[in-house]
Amino acid sequence: MNLTLKIWRQDGPNDAGALVTYPISDVSEDMSFLEMLDVLNEQLILDGKEPVAFDSDCREGICGMCSLMINGMAHGPEVTTTCQLHMRSFKDGDEITIEPWRAEAFPLVKDLIVDRSSFDRIIQAGGYISVNTGAAPEAHSVPVSKPAADRAFNTATCIGCGACVAACPNASAMLFMGAKVTHLGELPQGQPERDARVIKMINEHDAEGFGGCTNIGECAAACPKEIPLDVISQLNHDFRKAKHAH
Ligand code: SF4
Ligand code: FES
Repeated sequence: MNLTLKIWRQDGPNDAGALVTYPISDVSEDMSFLEMLDVLNEQLILDGKEPVAFDSDCREGICGMCSLMINGMAHGPEVTTTCQLHMRSFKDGDEITIEPWRAEAFPLVKDLIVDRSSFDRIIQAGGYISVNTGAAPEAHSVPVSKPAADRAFNTATCIGCGACVAACPNASAMLFMGAKVTHLGELPQGQPERDARVIKMINEHDAEGFGGCTNIGECAAACPKEIPLDVISQLNHDFRKAKHAH
């Protein structure tokens, strides 16, 4: 395939940015989207030009690093991560626009890389349980019902990629937080800190500059791990209950 890429280039957070056009040829439909960018970067390096800065790590859909807005869609046209998106989703002659996540709470670092450490600070604020370290406890010592275990497991699959924020017109991180609060709130180990957790996480979310949820649902549609929208109801429920109790 021969393609035309329009890529956001920006030297640093305080520099002006612009879309720059790069033609690319001989793209195989079996390449992943990131491999296609690797090919472009190799060519740019050979030409003595600055390669495009973009994030990736696992390239297996599990780390959440590969945050790219592709043709206006978080992670592109498939419900998956950018590293798991393949060029067969495009066709010869396509023009592809590639931009970074856009959200005040994800400041731009360079080109397509944004700083998502605001998510880390939300987790540090309350997305954990306090347990004594040491040997793993006996597996069946704390019973968990099958429905609770399934829901905790499903919501634990959130990889913190930020696609939900990038897709949301309010740049809200409520789906991300809903996933974390539901995951821990379903389990007995998550109960002692349940009220404090949701209050601290919401306070940090708002302080970081994420917006509020207005039930648009773009987050769940863009989520590569199919976190359901109803975790936001759970988040709101837990928050109201915690505020009432304290
Ligand atoms: S809820 Fe989905 S889109 Fe949001 S950070 Fe988690 S995995 Fe990514
Ligand atoms: S590089 Fe890890 S999820 Fe894409």
